[in-house]
Amino acid sequence: MIRLARWGWLCALALLFGATSRAETGAEAWLRYAPLETQTARKYAALPNRTVLLGDSMVLKTAQQELVRGVSRMLRRPLPIADRHYTHAAILLGTVGPVYALVPQMHPPHALLTDTYWITSASIHGSRCLIITAANDRGVLYGVFALLGMMARGENIDALDPSRKPDVSQPSAPIRWINQWDNLDGRIERGYGGPSIFFENGKVRDDLTGAGEYARLLASIGINACAINNVNADPRILDSAFILQLKRIADAFRPWGVRLALSVDLGSPKSVGGLDTFDPLDPRVAEFWKKKADELYAQIPDFAGFVVKADSEGRLGPSTYNRTHAEAANVVARALKPHGGVIFYRAFVYNHHLDWHDLKNDRAKAAYDNFHPLDGAFDDNVVIQIKNGPIDFQVREPVSPLFAGLRRTNQAIELQITQEYTGQQKHLCFLAPMWKEALDFDMRAAGNPSLVKDIVAGRRFHRDLGGFVGVANAGMDANWMGSTLAMANLYAFGRLAWNPNLGAREIAEDWTRMTFSNDPSVVHTIASLQMDSWPVYERYTGPLGVGTLTNITGNHYDPAPQSSEENGWGQWHRGDQNGIGMDRTVASGTGYIGQYPPEVQKVYESVDDCPDELLLFFHHVPYTRVLHSGPTVAQYFYDSHYDGAAQAHGFIARWETLRGHIDGERYEDVLARLKYQEEQAVVWRDAICGWMYKLSGIADQKGRFGPTHAN
Ligand code: GCU
Repeated sequence: MIRLARWGWLCALALLFGATSRAETGAEAWLRYAPLETQTARKYAALPNRTVLLGDSMVLKTAQQELVRGVSRMLRRPLPIADRHYTHAAILLGTVGPVYALVPQMHPPHALLTDTYWITSASIHGSRCLIITAANDRGVLYGVFALLGMMARGENIDALDPSRKPDVSQPSAPIRWINQWDNLDGRIERGYGGPSIFFENGKVRDDLTGAGEYARLLASIGINACAINNVNADPRILDSAFILQLKRIADAFRPWGVRLALSVDLGSPKSVGGLDTFDPLDPRVAEFWKKKADELYAQIPDFAGFVVKADSEGRLGPSTYNRTHAEAANVVARALKPHGGVIFYRAFVYNHHLDWHDLKNDRAKAAYDNFHPLDGAFDDNVVIQIKNGPIDFQVREPVSPLFAGLRRTNQAIELQITQEYTGQQKHLCFLAPMWKEALDFDMRAAGNPSLVKDIVAGRRFHRDLGGFVGVANAGMDANWMGSTLAMANLYAFGRLAWNPNLGAREIAEDWTRMTFSNDPSVVHTIASLQMDSWPVYERYTGPLGVGTLTNITGNHYDPAPQSSEENGWGQWHRGDQNGIGMDRTVASGTGYIGQYPPEVQKVYESVDDCPDELLLFFHHVPYTRVLHSGPTVAQYFYDSHYDGAAQAHGFIARWETLRGHIDGERYEDVLARLKYQEEQAVVWRDAICGWMYKLSGIADQKGRFGPTHAN
């Protein structure tokens, strides 16, 4: 269902038919604030029943409105707003300056940094007040969302209990951005949740209700900026007339502390600026970027910055003038610098016309080859945005070696929330466990602990700037992503960007409680389904690190394993009658493994030590090779595809246990999706098993696939 002016529409429908509520369509996602059961509500009996705001900024007012909305809905009682002279117990919201002036005895456990919030309590005029404070307004808003989240999940609020430590929460990194790949015509590249909430027919939508509601969702999980247009950027985004339109989106974001950012095309000095060049070293080009930045900041004073995709998949880039990526990034960075803006320069640079016949060619090497030699050459407001793996958001990849290859350069990890290669929201695939594996991976840079989450946050190599970027591609569908359960991925991205030490299961449970209910059977069933979904999807699509065997030249969705080969895209698995997998070893292959620090190299280089799940990513092996887990490669393909499809079938019965425990609309919607997934898993199973038999000539030992089954 399209979310045209969602509120109005849905309220009207609900009134007419008395049925579907906004919450039941999934539009409110994890911010439903459903009334709490009496027993749970009792936990919050000590919550003051007034709120006082110390300050009057737009974001602080938003924070107070959200508090009122959440508390009154969950506790089914109003939360009146009192003025600052109120002398009884209240929930006090404000930044540290005014709060400390009122309560001089307050001592934060440590200095509060930007966006960090502190939920505590103090006695004011003899009344016990709950205080939500932070160094900046946005931090107060985050604190309000945190308090409401605790209540929605039925958790204790430590600040209400004098025996507990007050709640200080600090984000792991300053960069917590969303990228949307929206086109100006309203379509979204790799978006599976309807058309753009920002653009329509080549201009910014008249009704930006969706943009404001989206910003609210993003703020609730700590996201502080959003780049709204496709990385394959339409240069028109920088037309002066368009900038005036963009201002309206920034206005819709601003109350939620979400800053607007744009993807820009490096050819803009020519296409928009009328120059005969976009050479980054030409002073006229520098002047173009400076003027554009000034123009943007004149309209949007809190503008966050640019995202740049250059020399990649046909995009223009510095190679046209034989310049480096650092030269290209820096000229734009210097235009943004006086305004405090940053540029995200994507490391997703590779040649998509690679010669398939050359066994030494390897797309996986491209990011490191392009950017490692430039380490230290980028200005300090440049961030290199690196996809988690070296290829392209496949269902299983090792982490990009570039994370350890940049030590004097800011970096951010790019994770894909939209399920381009992982079932396009039609299949259930909760990605937090996959992201956790990447974030928790130890690169052993210089022989020392070097977890990816510490590197990207800037901690490992002492960078001030760093963090997380998620490609979300939410759209106008009532439930944003086209699938209610897929929203867990957006939620998980925000939670992990704030705190990458959280467990995937914990996040899945929190999301379920807030999205559905605190009923233990609901929490257990949905969180377990989410947790099982990525391994299951991997089993029936592309196991052993073979890469996603989808139709890579087309929709990135259907099974089409042969489509990966014999083209220039470099997502090869090199399956033939003798064996399968890419030899990326230093000894005999492409040498890609040599890009990792020595301790990691050692594990991957040896075919005996390489973990099963990445075997075919790193090695070309015969089908008869025996895995650590027991079966041969060929047999594992058969087993895993059959197991995966059987488990997808099992999802249905597991979901059916929820009948009557959640609302009918979301129950039926998810059920229909799981039934579709079950069918598709069988399609995948049969396609890949048939392909495996044809390639290897080895029949399934369990008699499910062989000469009589293959066609
Ligand atoms: C993938 C995706 C493209 C996208 C690209 C990118 O290749 O299929 O649609 O433009 O990634 O990240 O730039």
